[in-house]
Amino acid sequence: MFYLKYRPQTIAEIDNSKVRELIIKILRSYHLPHAYLFFGQKGTGKTSTARIFAKAINCLNNDFSKEFSSKENIEPCNQCDNCLSIKNSNFADVIEMDAASNRGIDEIKNLIRETAFLPMVGRFRVFIIDEAHMITTEGFNALLKTLEEPPKTAFFILATTNPEKVPKTIASRCVQVSFGKASKSDLIKMLKKVAKSENLSLADNFYEIISRHCDYSFRDAVKILEEVAIQKITTTEDLESFLGIRGKDILLELVEKKDIQKTFAWLVEFSQNGGNFKNLIEDLLEELRVQLLIKRGLKVEVNREINLRLNEISLLMKLLLQAYQQLKYSPVDSLPLEIALNDFYNQTDKR
Ligand SMILES: Nc1ncnc2c1ncn2[C@@H]1O[C@H](COP(=O)(O)OP(=O)(O)OP(=O)(O)O)[C@@H](O)[C@H]1O
Ligand SMILES: [Mg+2]
Ligand SMILES: [Zn+2]
Repeated sequence: MFYLKYRPQTIAEIDNSKVRELIIKILRSYHLPHAYLFFGQKGTGKTSTARIFAKAINCLNNDFSKEFSSKENIEPCNQCDNCLSIKNSNFADVIEMDAASNRGIDEIKNLIRETAFLPMVGRFRVFIIDEAHMITTEGFNALLKTLEEPPKTAFFILATTNPEKVPKTIASRCVQVSFGKASKSDLIKMLKKVAKSENLSLADNFYEIISRHCDYSFRDAVKILEEVAIQKITTTEDLESFLGIRGKDILLELVEKKDIQKTFAWLVEFSQNGGNFKNLIEDLLEELRVQLLIKRGLKVEVNREINLRLNEISLLMKLLLQAYQQLKYSPVDSLPLEIALNDFYNQTDKR
């Protein structure tokens, strides 16, 4: 699996440039803070970076191994016993807890008890709490004191995709590291690196297209690249249909013709083939926006002008935007788009 094979193992390999620079600054600081909140979208490197941090401060070969040295060389070596066992997740002093399944007061109290022990093999114990926003109120309250005055040998890294659900009292005791969303340029850099090391030669527009359709997640991007390699996708057309992008053109043609039956049949097929409705709605909106600008007299480049009236385009955009917002809450992926198109046909019929 590419996403495991290419998990960043050193600070230099963190492709999220803002995070990389901040982590370097933190590790070089004279008084290293003991509590961190890593927040940002899924697949942006929170867990990977937490493990790199744990390796860096426990490595037997960098400047953290020398008590009175300034911290110039902070990279984990990835070769000493400590680095290797952290990498293989069998280092007794790196404790990873998934708060999604250990969220209650008892689990947190156990964890706090652990923090009182001195490191067994390393210099520091690092507690990585994933999905930290899932911790219960009682759990957070119990954790508060420990975060405020952590033992000298203990570090805490809380990782979450939902920082707004972490109480302010907890967040304010942590150094906040925002992973945000993966930027297009960082994604393209990462994809090119992986492609090179896998000896894949892809057209330049592949990187561009993947970076726009991976939900701003490094993990999703590298997974798409892996599929491209496995399925030996070589043409832009095949890549676009794999990503469900070509769906937009087919669907718009059916809508132009007001072919209600075929529209819904196509949606069912798209859904059965595992098509991504979020991407599809994004692509439709992007296209309709351009078409709207053209109808408003702007000179924008476009393959062809679609045969819908201005008020139809704007109605469809409104309905699609609603559908897009409802995707998150819908029990069935296809539902919001089906409702939007149904409403569109109903409302355009009456005019
Ligand atoms: N900054 C990055 N640079 C390069 N690759 C990355 C980066 N972040 C993530 N990846 C890729 O995505 C995979 C998952 O990363 P990781 O588990 O660290 O993300 P995460 O932010 O913890 O995600 P989640 O919120 O889903 O737990 C990595 O194994 C790697 O392939
Ligand atoms: Mg994670
Ligand atoms: Zn090392």
